Amino acid sequence: MSQDSRHPFLKGLSKHRGAQPTIITIFGASGDLCARKLVPAIYNLAVDNLLPPEFSLIGYGRKPIPDEEFRKLAHDSIKEFSRRSLNEEIWKRIEDNTYYCSGGYDELDAFKALEAKIESIEKEMGREAQSVIYISTPPSVFEPIIVNLGASGLATRYQDSGSHTKVVIEKPFGKDLESARHLNKVIQGVLQERQVYRIDHYLGKETVQDLLVQRFANSIFEPLWNRQYVDNVQITVSESLGVGTRGGYYEQSGATRDMIQNHTMQLLALTAMEPPVSLDPEAIRDEKVKLLKAIKPLNLDYAHSDVVRAQYKEGLVDGAKVQGYRQEEGVSADSETETYAALRLNISNWRWEGVPFYLRSGKRMPRRVTEISIQFKRPPSTLFSENEMFNLAANSLVFQIQPDEGSTVLLNAKIPGLQTRTQPVKMHFKYSATFGSNTPEAYERLVLDAMLGDGTLFIRGDETEASWNLITPLHDFWASEGQRGMENYVSGSWGPLAADRLPWDNTHEWRRP
Ligand code: BG6
Repeated sequence: MSQDSRHPFLKGLSKHRGAQPTIITIFGASGDLCARKLVPAIYNLAVDNLLPPEFSLIGYGRKPIPDEEFRKLAHDSIKEFSRRSLNEEIWKRIEDNTYYCSGGYDELDAFKALEAKIESIEKEMGREAQSVIYISTPPSVFEPIIVNLGASGLATRYQDSGSHTKVVIEKPFGKDLESARHLNKVIQGVLQERQVYRIDHYLGKETVQDLLVQRFANSIFEPLWNRQYVDNVQITVSESLGVGTRGGYYEQSGATRDMIQNHTMQLLALTAMEPPVSLDPEAIRDEKVKLLKAIKPLNLDYAHSDVVRAQYKEGLVDGAKVQGYRQEEGVSADSETETYAALRLNISNWRWEGVPFYLRSGKRMPRRVTEISIQFKRPPSTLFSENEMFNLAANSLVFQIQPDEGSTVLLNAKIPGLQTRTQPVKMHFKYSATFGSNTPEAYERLVLDAMLGDGTLFIRGDETEASWNLITPLHDFWASEGQRGMENYVSGSWGPLAADRLPWDNTHEWRRP
């Protein structure tokens, strides 16, 4: 029997990158992430022929939903959220292999029923299939899910073969160092580290992956990438959106837990780490951990604090009036949660000693921008010292992670004319101009990598702990201080004025993206 006649997926889905037969189970299947990101990601992998020929999708959630209804939800979410429009023929192949199981996250019997379902699908496939378990539930149920994956035997399927179960865990991974350590312990009791894929979706972004290529596939940067030439580094992750309907979640989180501890710290680690000895996932993660461990503890003394926190007030964003954070749905009227945080970090190693790294992230800022800016030292001013003839800027290299993906180098050039006058000019590389604009979404890459068993773009247990180790003392300090030190900023501004004093030696300014 040819493979094509055995399974509908084989038709047209044969050019995959080598993932083995796979059954993906999404826990939290009636949630927002599943609809907005995960199902559209799976669909787009199908469009690109990157799913294995034998592939099934199971949604798992507390709410009882018939298979038919879940299929319709999945269909409609692709229609609404996929980056490419819905092709019914491709969808049909996914639809025929989509199921739903309902049950509690602490009900062992429901997990056993799920295992039975997986086995029956596998039987139909006629081959051994790996299970990819995607946990996209609220973090409060991560622990019972992991425990039940162990108790039901789902975690140990094909443990000694390449088809072993893989478990993808969404953020937030813990809320502080202690809870992250605890979760890692629970995981270690059930799974081997190679089975675990902790998500930070920023690592799936094309431009974040490109950081590694830019740094290590070019020889012109490395000689400059150190304290002799770099004056400071600024990482900005700003959003124009407010907390929207996620006020309840955000109250427990705030900007440092939501964005800094994970996404921003990952950008920092990739920017500042030493060259890994290979592209092996462990080699890269080893370097990131080394870097995170080299960051000095934050100075929290008010006179020279390394940190500013603030909340947005009402204001104008994109010409529209928006309410303040404390007026948002689900937010307490005297909330102490920060919607903006800026940090000054010092990395204590040979390469970076003395170079400040400024990180900031906030909601309700003027624009959605993620960028990493390497600001170089000024040249000696023996020839062109600054005056009205010589408008000179320090050189910088800016990686635009999103939107307008690309990079820009700022140089000084002569203005054409009979006099020698200078002006800073920009050299741009734009992704869309060079490669076109329809790049895969982060979740496509991450779902595919989990299926392929490639952990490079996922966070290792010790990495998440190293990052919490830096941030947790800050949260403890804020908890003890109440409102003290909480600043405000007008929605639509670049953050509180107090953030301008963060580069407190007055030699640096925040870049305006
Ligand atoms: C999530 C945060 O991890 O990242 C959200 O929980 C934030 O608050 C989002 O809006 C930003 O992601 P992106 O990909 O839109 O930059």
